[in-house]
Amino acid sequence: MLLKNSQKRPQTAAVLDIGTNKVVCLIGQKDENMSVRLLGYGFGVSAGLKGGVVVDMEAAEAGIRAAVEKAERQAGIAVHSVSVNVSTRSLRSQHMQVQTEFATGEVADRDLTRVMNSSLSELAQPEDAIIHAIPVNYSVDGEHGIRDPRGMFGSRLGVDMHFVLAGIGPLRNLAHTVERCHLRINSATVSSYAAGNAVLTEDEKDLGVTVIDMGAGITTVGVFRDNTLVHVDALPVGGQSVTNDIARGLVTPMEAAERIKFIYGSALHGADDDHMMVPCPPMGAQDELHHQPKSLLTSIVRARIQETFELLAGRIADAGLESYSGRRIVLTGGGAQLNGVAEVAELVFNKRVRIGKPVGIMGLKETLSGPDFAVATGILKSRFEHSEEAITGPPDLSGRRYRQRRYSGGAMGRSLQWLKENF
Ligand SMILES: Nc1ncnc2c1ncn2[C@@H]1O[C@H](COP(=O)(O)OP(=O)(O)OP(=O)(O)O)[C@@H](O)[C@H]1O
Ligand SMILES: [Mg+2]
Repeated sequence: MLLKNSQKRPQTAAVLDIGTNKVVCLIGQKDENMSVRLLGYGFGVSAGLKGGVVVDMEAAEAGIRAAVEKAERQAGIAVHSVSVNVSTRSLRSQHMQVQTEFATGEVADRDLTRVMNSSLSELAQPEDAIIHAIPVNYSVDGEHGIRDPRGMFGSRLGVDMHFVLAGIGPLRNLAHTVERCHLRINSATVSSYAAGNAVLTEDEKDLGVTVIDMGAGITTVGVFRDNTLVHVDALPVGGQSVTNDIARGLVTPMEAAERIKFIYGSALHGADDDHMMVPCPPMGAQDELHHQPKSLLTSIVRARIQETFELLAGRIADAGLESYSGRRIVLTGGGAQLNGVAEVAELVFNKRVRIGKPVGIMGLKETLSGPDFAVATGILKSRFEHSEEAITGPPDLSGRRYRQRRYSGGAMGRSLQWLKENF
C-alpha cells in the first residue's frame, strides 16, 4: 500500500462496502463548496462471504486489499482507516423510551446527554453490539414528538431511542478481516441505512419510505420516517438465491445460470416467453447443451422474487410498520437491476416503487452510478455529514455493557457547533 500520509488531508475519508459479490472502496473529499468529491475508487472480487458474513477470511481479505489498493492508487493517498457497512442476518431494531428528571428550567445539552446515557445503560444485550443509537424524538413533561427539546421549559425529559443491534460474532470476523488489511475501522453503518442516505429525497425520508437493498447474499431493509431511521431488518436471501434456483431448475452450472439471469432473466412474463428457448449449458462433460422455454425461467425467477417480497412485507407488518412506513419503496443493490423486480414489489407491497440511484457525490463515474453502489456512496456521504447518533466511532465488540466513557457526548454538542458554523 502507498505510504503517503493521509493525515494531512483531514477532509478525506475512505469507505468499504464489503458485499457477498463485490468489495467497493471509495475515497472522497469535502471540497471548498462543502460538496463531497470522489478522489478514487476500486473494486475487488469478494469470495469469502456468505449471506453478507465473512466465512473465509483469506479470500475476503484479498478482495478488500485489491479494492483499497486500486482506490489508493487513483486518489494518490494512503488509506489507514475506513468506514464499513454491516449487513448480517442478525440485524434488528429495538426501541426504548426513557425519562429523566431535571431541575425545572430550560432543557440543555447536558440533559440530552443524561437521558441518552440512561437509555444506553439500560440496554443490556451482551450477545449484541450497538451499530446505531438514534434518538427518534423527545418528550418534555409528557409532551411527545419533539425533535429538538433544547431551550424548552420543563422538569421531565424523555427520549425514544432506536437501537440497531447485530450479533457480535460475525462482526468480530468482519473487523478482524479488515484489520488484517492494516486498516482501522472508523465507523460501521447498516447497508440499508447507508443506501437510504445515498438515494432518498428529504421528502421521502420525512413522509415515510422503505429502502430495500437487494444484494447477492443478503437483503437489508431500512424504514425511514420523520427524517429518521426507525426500523431495520435483514434476510439472508438475494440475487445469488435467484441464480441458485435457476441452476437447479434449468439443470445448468451456477456460472451459466448467472449469465442466463443477466441475459434472459425477468420476474415478469413476456408475450414470447412460450416460444423463446433459453440455451442451457450442460452440467458435466457427458451431458449436452439443452434448451428450456423462457416461460420456465421466468416462473423460477418470479417465484423467488415474489417470495422474498412477501416475507419482507410480512415482517414489516409484524413490526407494526405497514402504514407508518409510508407509500413508497425504493430498491437498491445489484438485485434491483433484475428485470421486473420493481413491478413485482409494487404488486406485493401495493406501494409506489422506484429503483434508487446514488446522488450527491461529485465525480461519480458512470460505473458507480447504479443502485449497486448506493451503499458505498451512502457511507461516504455520511462521513461528511453531521450525525445525531448517541454513539459515534466503531461498534464496541467486547460484549460488555455500555459504559459511560463510550458516550461521545459530541452528537448534540457538535450539532450546535455545526449550526453556528453554517448559518
Ligand atoms: N443486470 C442485472 N440483472 C440481474 N441481476 C443482477 C444484475 N446486476 C446485478 N445483479 C445481481 O445482483 C447481485 C449483486 O448485487 P450487489 O453488488 O448489490 O451485491 P453485494 O453487495 O456484493 O452482496 P451483499 O450485499 O448481498 O453482501 C448478484 O446476485 C447479481 O447477479
Ligand atoms: Mg451489498
